[in-house]
Amino acid sequence: LDELKSALRAFDGCALKKTATNLVFSDGNPAADIMIIGEAPGRDEDRLGVPFVGAVGQFLDHMLASIGLDRSGVYLTNFLPWRPPGNRTATAEEIDMLLPFLYRHIQLANPNLVVILGGAPAKILLQSSDNILKLRGRWQDINFGDGVLRPTMASLHPAYLMRSPAQKRQAFDDWYGLYHRL
Ligand code: URA
Repeated sequence: LDELKSALRAFDGCALKKTATNLVFSDGNPAADIMIIGEAPGRDEDRLGVPFVGAVGQFLDHMLASIGLDRSGVYLTNFLPWRPPGNRTATAEEIDMLLPFLYRHIQLANPNLVVILGGAPAKILLQSSDNILKLRGRWQDINFGDGVLRPTMASLHPAYLMRSPAQKRQAFDDWYGLYHRL
């Protein structure tokens, strides 16, 4: 994982790196059973170089606590390791360029369970054009490039839940499903 982080740090092929302040690689416990993959660093994450440290991260911590977890029990990363300027969406070219790094990240961390937060990373990693409201909560065995089938579930992004609290119920169902797999 340290080598992968160094490789990303040395990688100059992606324009997102040029405008970002820091590489945002991971947080939590790399040996944890659960790997959580968010969307992209925000302003706070870019400033500190750590995923999910701002208000959205604090909300995620509450969601984890609701099933008895904290950051020592999960490993956290994002689909994009650099904050896009103005939080714009990544281009198809950037996604294609960064996907192999994320696949390698998953392979090296080798979690037993993968949770994807948000529609954008869910569509790419689950190779589906379905809306997140349709994709969420369903466990699927996904091959992240090494032939290993890892049980994977997408759920609603905590930033979306902060804007749409009525959806928290569905997200809680998803996390409850995760709890039952631990
Ligand atoms: N939103 C994300 O998807 N990731 C972060 O690290 C912070 C906010």
